Amino acid sequence: MTKKLRVLSGIQPSGQLHLGNYAGAIRQFLDLQSSCEMYIFVASFHALTSARDPAALKARVRQVVTDYLAFGLDPEKTSIYLQHDVPEVTELAWMLSCVCPEGWMTKMVSYKDKIAHGLPANVGLFTYPILQAADILAVDADMVPVGKDQVQHVEITRDLAQRFNQEFGSEVFKLPAHRLAPDAAVLPGIDGEKMSKSYGNDIDPFQEEKALRKRIMSIKTDSLGVDDVKDPEASTIFQIYRAIAGKDDPRTLALADRFRTPGMGYGHAKQALFELVLEHFGPARARRVELLAQPEIVDQVLNRGACAAREKASATLSRARKAVGLD
Ligand code: ADP
Ligand code: TRP
Repeated sequence: MTKKLRVLSGIQPSGQLHLGNYAGAIRQFLDLQSSCEMYIFVASFHALTSARDPAALKARVRQVVTDYLAFGLDPEKTSIYLQHDVPEVTELAWMLSCVCPEGWMTKMVSYKDKIAHGLPANVGLFTYPILQAADILAVDADMVPVGKDQVQHVEITRDLAQRFNQEFGSEVFKLPAHRLAPDAAVLPGIDGEKMSKSYGNDIDPFQEEKALRKRIMSIKTDSLGVDDVKDPEASTIFQIYRAIAGKDDPRTLALADRFRTPGMGYGHAKQALFELVLEHFGPARARRVELLAQPEIVDQVLNRGACAAREKASATLSRARKAVGLD
């Protein structure tokens, strides 16, 4: 029997998970969990680069786990855990930071992007990719499913692993590869920019129906009228629709045709998107209600997940300590 690929990924608890997270990351987790050995965590320490409200952070961490389960992550197949429950990771991050040239961090695009959007420019945010590398290397992951914006972080993880192995003359770390969702695209938010929790332009598939409709109706459009021919590729509504329904789905192809044919206003397209979101996420929305009524399930899942992740991370840490001479 061939060994299963080991897969790791995580999402920050910086707010409600949104359609961009689903299209870029979570859908891949769901696709992979039957055939791979999966580790999916909540990047709680990463969130601390900007979170300053302890009660809100605590609630968001739980909310991400609840949402993971609602979307369909299966704890029988996937170890689900919290980053701060695996302290080996932060120790590994320190060791990696000691082999990381400063220039490798200054070229990180996401840092510049976050600063440009007003996030506090602290050292934690600056060295964030090193902690991310430690997350990945701790469990000897083969593959990291992420959205496009995270590819540079997985590349730097490989560079750091290689550098550490070379400097200490020991094959401590395994080099991981990233995996992009098939048809990967950066999903735009309601303002047409990258959908992101931090930018306040996201769409939450678990939002109450009326509010969800209002949110979708607020997607920014150009001023073309009902009888104008429209380019679906240029439309945020169409891009989101396609990401959820799938690019070859007959509903997507039909909507593209309607864009190209006079007679469809943006309001119609938004209504179609709203109906699609309700339908596609119907089972997840129902599961989430059940999970919220049974919070003990989340605790059990997290205990199990932390044990599994710590087992792997402590073995990696022992190798690393030995390699540097501090065992
Ligand atoms: P956010 O930008 O909302 O804080 P994160 O940075 O926590 O989202 O991203 C979590 C995962 O979701 C990552 O794998 C990321 O690539 C993916 N992702 C986030 N936003 C998008 C988007 N707009 N389009 C596609 N994938 C996304
Ligand atoms: N940086 C990722 C994000 O913002 C979250 C993350 C932290 C992550 N550690 C990771 C993703 C390890 C994949 C693997 O989305």
